[in-house]
Amino acid sequence: MIKLGVLASGSGSNFQSIVDSTESGYLDARVAVLITDKPEAYAIERAKKHEIEQLVLIPKNFPDRDTYYSHIADELKKRGVDLVILAGFMRVVGSPLIDQYRERIMNIHPALLPSFPGLHGQKQAADYGVRISGCTVHFVDEGMDTGPVIIQAAVPAYHDDTEESLGKRILKQEHKIFPYAIRLFSEGRLSVEGRKVIIKGEREDSVIINPPLDMD
Ligand code: GRF
Repeated sequence: MIKLGVLASGSGSNFQSIVDSTESGYLDARVAVLITDKPEAYAIERAKKHEIEQLVLIPKNFPDRDTYYSHIADELKKRGVDLVILAGFMRVVGSPLIDQYRERIMNIHPALLPSFPGLHGQKQAADYGVRISGCTVHFVDEGMDTGPVIIQAAVPAYHDDTEESLGKRILKQEHKIFPYAIRLFSEGRLSVEGRKVIIKGEREDSVIINPPLDMD
C-alpha cells in the first residue's frame, strides 16, 4: 500500500474522489495527510469527515518560497508519503519539493495540455472555441503545467459553453482519471523517459470527433 500526501487549495472534489477510491479498495493507497495553503478550503472539511490529518500551511507565514516548500517536503517525508498529489493546489510548486519528490508529484489540469496552461483552463478553452477539451494528469516539473503527461481525457466543447458548463463536463472526467493515474503509479506501471511517460500494458483506444460526422 502506498501513502499519499494531497495538496489542495479549494473545494477538494478531486481530493474526495481519491479518498473514495482508497476507501472502496479501487486504490491500494492511503491518504496520510492533506496540506492546504488556504484556511478556508472546503477540502479541510472533507478530510475531517474521513479522519485524515490536515495541515494548514500559509506561505506568508514563511520567510520565503524555498523555505515554504522545503517545510512541505519535510512534513510529507515525516509521514512516509510516497506520492504527492496536487488536487487543485493553485500554486507553482517550488524546487525544494520537486527535488525531494521528482517524478513522484502529480498534478491535474482542466485542459488538454499543452493547450491552455495556467489559471482558468476551462475558460481559456471555451473562449477560444475549441471543439474538444478535457483534462490532463501529469508529473510536475519546475514549469507551469509542463511536466510529462500521464493520462488525458477528452470531452466535447460546444459553441455556447461557458467556463462553468465546460468545467463541469471536464471535472467529471478529472474524478476518473486522477485515481486511475495514481493506480498506475501504485502498480509500478509508470516510468518516465524524457518527456514521455511509458505505461506498462498500454493499449490503443478509439477516436473522438466533435461534432460527430454522422450528426444529420
Ligand atoms: C480542478 O478543475 C483542477 O483541474 C484544477 O483545480 C480544480 C480543483 O477542483 N487544478 P477541486 O478542488 O478538486 O474540486
